Amino acid sequence: MTNALNLEPYWMPFTGNRQFKSDPLLMESASGMYFTTTEGRQVLDGIAGLWCCTAGHCHPAIVDAIQRQAAKLDYSTAFQMGHPGIFQLADKLTSIAPGDLDYAFFTNSGSESVDTALKIALAYHRMRGEGQRTRLIGREKGYHGVGFGGISVGGMSPNRKMFGAMLPGVDHLPHTLDRSHNAFTRGQPEWGARLADELENLVALHDASTIAAVIVEPVAGSVGVVVPPRGYLERLREICTRHGILLIFDEVITAFGRTGKRFAADTFGVQPDLMAVAKGLTNGAVPMGAVLVDSSIYQAFMTGPPHAIEFFHGYTYSGHPLAAAAALASLKVYEDEGLYDRASKLAPVFEDALHSLQGEPHVIDIRNIGMMGGVELAPRDDGPTLRALDAFRRCFDAGLLVRTVGDTIALTPPLIIDEDQIGQIVETIAKVLRSLD
Ligand SMILES: Cc1ncc(COP(=O)(O)O)c(C=O)c1O
Repeated sequence: MTNALNLEPYWMPFTGNRQFKSDPLLMESASGMYFTTTEGRQVLDGIAGLWCCTAGHCHPAIVDAIQRQAAKLDYSTAFQMGHPGIFQLADKLTSIAPGDLDYAFFTNSGSESVDTALKIALAYHRMRGEGQRTRLIGREKGYHGVGFGGISVGGMSPNRKMFGAMLPGVDHLPHTLDRSHNAFTRGQPEWGARLADELENLVALHDASTIAAVIVEPVAGSVGVVVPPRGYLERLREICTRHGILLIFDEVITAFGRTGKRFAADTFGVQPDLMAVAKGLTNGAVPMGAVLVDSSIYQAFMTGPPHAIEFFHGYTYSGHPLAAAAALASLKVYEDEGLYDRASKLAPVFEDALHSLQGEPHVIDIRNIGMMGGVELAPRDDGPTLRALDAFRRCFDAGLLVRTVGDTIALTPPLIIDEDQIGQIVETIAKVLRSLD
């Protein structure tokens, strides 16, 4: 099968194209917790596809909803018209979202959700006569997708350094990864809330009147699962509120049960003004994202004549009928199958399993919350990421899909995983670690 394919013309994203094409990994199908490769091998999915297939793969209810929708209404624009499914979805999403996140703006990805949230924040201040609030504050090591807004507030240097000056007026908080204080912490570290006070320094430097919004991932994922120190998010919230700065949570990977509750905002008891979601919204089956918006922000836009467009922003595929059908079916499956409760019940089992890897070769830190975890390896002498990439490939060959970010093995399995499969993940990783240089 692989031999018959011309692999060359496809420029693959976030991939070492030449290495991949010399030794490709191709998936043929998937069901529940498993992929089947084109060679007919079963691979246990330790990362929910890419943190998105919350209810496992090809869930029959989601497949059915997409198939029926495709045959009924394939497309209709979201500009000046709609279809029932997208209104039902906005109603459902805002009914489960925390606090006053009562409005939903639809996008097609996490990156688009982030850039949309940043634009809403800037426009909101302008609508209120505070158009001088143009600064955006992100965080070092943050990942907010690949749009120009997202890479500007993001803090992963490989994603930024090729692309010039990016957005002006962006500054960054320090990251909260500190192994000297927090290595091998289970759940939220005790040390580090004070890092939120750096926001006060940025406010002092730039003046609050110039700052529109702060954006953070409640749990930083792509840097290797960095859990917020106790009290950190609370302090960010308090400082933002005091200075009239909007707080945006990028919940693209944490929403829909990943941290043990529906949203990380629920898990940590901290309310954002705007929330970016995607991934699990449709169980990964059809691209879709959304920005959940506090009611007061939406109302600030509803001021001109009723026929006037209030927000000059949107995508051809905003609120796509197939995505809406997939999302409605996914949210129903999560509730019908009790996946949020399941995540919170399995979290201690997952935590114990992960931390059993402490003491295995090369392991220098283990971090976890809910059903997400990171096992950080010491970098090899010949360069960072190489040992983790080797681990990724050996895990795959042993029938387990993990993701490596830097030198961290990240694990975010579908929430349908069972205890035996958690055991299988950890045993496979332990064997691989013992076999690595
Ligand atoms: C926190 C966060 N924000 C944004 C994104 C970008 O999402 P997408 O790849 O759907 O554009 C990701 C993707 O992993 C993410 O983890």
